[in-house]
Amino acid sequence: DDPAADPFEIAAAAAADIARLSGVERHDIAVTLGSGWGRAAELIGEETASFPATEVTGFSKPALEGHVGTLRSVRTPGGKNVLVIGARTHYYEGHGVRRVVHSVRTAAATGATTMILTNGAGGIRETWKPGQPVLISDHINLTADSPLEGATFIDLTDLYSQRLRDLARTIDPTLDEGVYTQFRGPHYETPAEVQMAKTIGGHIVGMSTALEAIAARQAGMEILGFSLITNLAAGIQKTPLSHEEVLEAGREAEPVISSLLARVIGAL
Ligand code: 6GU
Repeated sequence: DDPAADPFEIAAAAAADIARLSGVERHDIAVTLGSGWGRAAELIGEETASFPATEVTGFSKPALEGHVGTLRSVRTPGGKNVLVIGARTHYYEGHGVRRVVHSVRTAAATGATTMILTNGAGGIRETWKPGQPVLISDHINLTADSPLEGATFIDLTDLYSQRLRDLARTIDPTLDEGVYTQFRGPHYETPAEVQMAKTIGGHIVGMSTALEAIAARQAGMEILGFSLITNLAAGIQKTPLSHEEVLEAGREAEPVISSLLARVIGAL
């Protein structure tokens, strides 16, 4: 939180903590588990270590029910080390964007070259059903913030790797995709805001991921993004939105999307 501190040095210290706590020197892949995706770790491979995120430098306490504050090191049957991040700091918590992207920078500092970002989100496309996973094809960042500081002009073309989206579709050819629109939250959007998001090219509304993807690109990682559509966005679905509904859709979809994620990781 100290503006004079170097966020990359803090991420390097966090990566050193993870190496010590997990006994794994280098991770190959990192995955952030959003609402609904929490059980995927069990299916990815054999867990070599699990520890509270609070034991790692720079990680904040989990703010929300449904967001487990646990980091895991899991080894795939193919021998890759996966850092499973079950601890997300949301922008709406108000701790600043450095905290939001700290897990991504830490993942990069552990050696991970692939960053998989997952979330639970609202769908704008009327044909989508709650419980359906979709690939993120691109994003619109409506937070008016950036994890980059100073004159860091980086390109965001193909931010959500076409190669990895194609690979995900070899596992599930029915996967649809859409543009993720990150709002600040924590309130859900008004129907008018959802119409705005639709008009400017958005298909998914959420409160995470875009800022993290920018930090992952800065770190040189290849990015894969998944949204679990937990509900349709305000005004698209006719009933009011509730956090309980979002968690329930996540719980129901969990076995299917966890297996999808594990199979995609196995194919990387
Ligand atoms: Cl409708 N909006 C946002 N911003 N986040 C969500 C959501 C909607 N549904 C689940 N998460």
